[in-house]
Amino acid sequence: MKLLVCGGAGFIGSNFVRIRVRDHGDDVVVLDKLTYAGRRENLHDLTDEIRFVHGAIEDPVAVADAIAGVDAVVNFAAETHVDRSISEPDAFVRTNAQGTYVLLEAAREAGVRYLQVSTDEVYGSIEEGSFTEESPLKPSSPYSATKLGADLLVQSYFHTYGLETLICRGSNNYGPYQYPEKLIPLMVLNALHGDKLPVYGDGMQVRNWLYVEDFGRGIGHALAHGAAGEVYNVGGPDECPNLEVVQRIVGLTGNDQSLIEYVTDRPGHDRRYSLASEKLRALGWTAQVRFAEGLDQTVAWYRDNAWWWEPIRSGDYLAYYERQYGRALGSA
Ligand code: NAD
Ligand code: TYD
Repeated sequence: MKLLVCGGAGFIGSNFVRIRVRDHGDDVVVLDKLTYAGRRENLHDLTDEIRFVHGAIEDPVAVADAIAGVDAVVNFAAETHVDRSISEPDAFVRTNAQGTYVLLEAAREAGVRYLQVSTDEVYGSIEEGSFTEESPLKPSSPYSATKLGADLLVQSYFHTYGLETLICRGSNNYGPYQYPEKLIPLMVLNALHGDKLPVYGDGMQVRNWLYVEDFGRGIGHALAHGAAGEVYNVGGPDECPNLEVVQRIVGLTGNDQSLIEYVTDRPGHDRRYSLASEKLRALGWTAQVRFAEGLDQTVAWYRDNAWWWEPIRSGDYLAYYERQYGRALGSA
């Protein structure tokens, strides 16, 4: 298969590209704007095996170049961090909504299958039970609202133009190459450096953890076996409150629990996410990595790959960290 992977230099996209090239022998074109979260280093071992196009998904010229001759488009490209969407929502509208529109137009023109990578956050928060694909859509943040806007546009292209579309809604991912603004890599790197661990609110918010390779395999499975026009939830096998995640990381890095510091809660913070994934499981996919095993592997990967995170920890990230946590932690 020849695939266009948009956002393939990001965390989940790069793990997906690795699976497609190594396990499926696919021919892959990556289109990526290389924002702070997108890095050529994430594809360091695949440079000779893929074609890389540096460009934005909202740029029709870059998209036309990248899409030529492919069999399908998989769109990971997005602004993805909830905290940044609260302080600077502008880029979220441009990339997540407008960018998806430009890609859909190009896929329609080319007549190729289109898979949108989406999130459980479009359903909002759930106190008990799990969201199915039929659950009401109630996004809370500018991030999840723009992701839902994209999902609705994708579905409109199926209904209106007959474009073969699919949507995969993943739960919280973790694993190698995740930018350390997100909970797990932030806490792992802080713990490895003996820095404070900033837990929002009471730390009892629950996330449904999905190992990044399980998400990549789920997306590939939906692309191959899913029905056009359908939505597939891709949830992890385990749920865990944030505080317990951080305590486990403290244990795995041999640190002291006193590093944990409770800081002001995120505005509009969703309490719990939980996905029911029976629909994709009925097609033969299943998550293979339990949270305890995946977290252990992830901590080991960050410990062994300082070459990957050292340039991040000494660059623009410092200014971001100071803005986001400086006052609350009284340091940084
Ligand atoms: P990420 O922030 O690590 O990567 C995003 C990638 O998109 C980067 O390579 C970035 O350079 C690229 N990008 C951003 N704006 C672009 C633009 N305008 N044009 C082209 N490229 C652009 O994100 P991630 O965590 O890998 O998430 C990938 C996708 O999966 C997103 O669509 C996200 O909504 C979805 N998702 C993420 C999670 C999660 O837990 N991280 C869970 C479910 C779904
Ligand atoms: P995050 O990784 O930002 O993912 P999302 O908001 O998309 O679920 O956050 C995961 C959870 O961890 C969320 O409940 C917010 C919380 N959190 C903290 O408590 N401290 C932090 O420094 C960060 C980044 C997140």
